[in-house]
Amino acid sequence: MQMYDLIYKKRNGGELTREEINYFIQGYTAGTIPDYQVSALMMAIYFQGMTGQETADLTMAMVNSGELINLEQIPGTKVDKHSTGGVGDKTTLVLAPLVASAGVPVAKMSGRGLGHTGGTIDKLESIPGFNVNLQPEAFIKQVREIGIALMAQTGIIAPADKKLYALRDVTATVDSIPLIASSVTSKKIASGADAILLDVKCGSGAFMKTRQEASALAKAMVAIGKMVNRRMVAVVTDMGQPLGYAVGNALEVKEALATLKGEGPADLRELCLTLGSHMLVLGEVGQDTASARDRLEDLLKQGKALQKFHQLIEAQGGDASVIDDPDKLPEASFKCSVTSPEEGFIAEIDTMLVGRAAMLLGAGRASKDDLIDHAAGIVLTKKPGDFVKKGEELAVLHTNREDALDAVAELAAPAFKITSDSPEKPQLILETIGW
Ligand code: URA
Repeated sequence: MQMYDLIYKKRNGGELTREEINYFIQGYTAGTIPDYQVSALMMAIYFQGMTGQETADLTMAMVNSGELINLEQIPGTKVDKHSTGGVGDKTTLVLAPLVASAGVPVAKMSGRGLGHTGGTIDKLESIPGFNVNLQPEAFIKQVREIGIALMAQTGIIAPADKKLYALRDVTATVDSIPLIASSVTSKKIASGADAILLDVKCGSGAFMKTRQEASALAKAMVAIGKMVNRRMVAVVTDMGQPLGYAVGNALEVKEALATLKGEGPADLRELCLTLGSHMLVLGEVGQDTASARDRLEDLLKQGKALQKFHQLIEAQGGDASVIDDPDKLPEASFKCSVTSPEEGFIAEIDTMLVGRAAMLLGAGRASKDDLIDHAAGIVLTKKPGDFVKKGEELAVLHTNREDALDAVAELAAPAFKITSDSPEKPQLILETIGW
């Protein structure tokens, strides 16, 4: 088999066979096929697309490029959750202990933030002492003992995806639906999940800017699940504004703790209850989403999800006293308000801009080896639909980089679009694509 022939075939709109896909993934992982040929193939796929069968074959080829985590020693249906990434998305911090408190085993590997989006692992590391680098045996043991463990994804999972993603990032081939769908699902399947709940973000802070694109990605991932026999449900959700009010690692942990205590923002709570009810059904501990949601609401009210989070922090070496005393989390030395230049209603928030501003304050990484400042970020004071007077506060910037404050305040202010008419409230849950 020759790589040239695969590129030629795909360029002309042909369908690659499973053997051809395995050939290029194995060769690329082993280093016997060069970047320039794989780049050409990625670009051909970008323009010609892939059939459902090709996408499923690509997914499984990437799964098999590394090690598979075997979660069979953990009783029950293991349900994983993945978000395609957004701004202020601290859902996992609430959802994981919540569904674990309902009896769904949570053995979850998560990633770090890059660019304008955050990552669960960075958020957890803002809790003093929290260890995200577990060995697979310790990870499995902890799930068996307390029903939950969260660890950083290791390089042994789908290494072909890691290499391909880095190549796509520099060849303008990230935003291809079959390539994103196979990339996301390969990592989840290799992590040992029996069933997967996908939160597909849509809007100004997401990869997928339009409802149509988000819906197509959600359908492509659920179709992969059907072909490779993993139950998947995808929920398309709004990322046209940050989720909750806090953006930045320790700030988001504080907001997640408030939500676990029943005091958090309405949108975050609603998203966790919606996603959680699907996870209970996928995990076969709930009959239907309505009764599962009632159960999750009870668990939140009884403080069971908060107790589970306490157990998780202690088991992974963290300082669980942050639960009662969130002021023990890292706190920035400098704070500055962004104020409204005019009176009116907040019509929209440019979420990508808020994410970029938080990154410049130190909350995120411009490139993968950058260090982050756990205390940095932005807390919104106003959300779409709210009324503001001229000079009223829109958000507060938190940073340890005093020299960045003025420039970031100038960058962040135009993120708030103000109109004289009261805007319609955006819908949070846009579509559900089921198994
Ligand atoms: N996230 C991933 O994991 N893969 C992609 O291709 C895009 C976003």
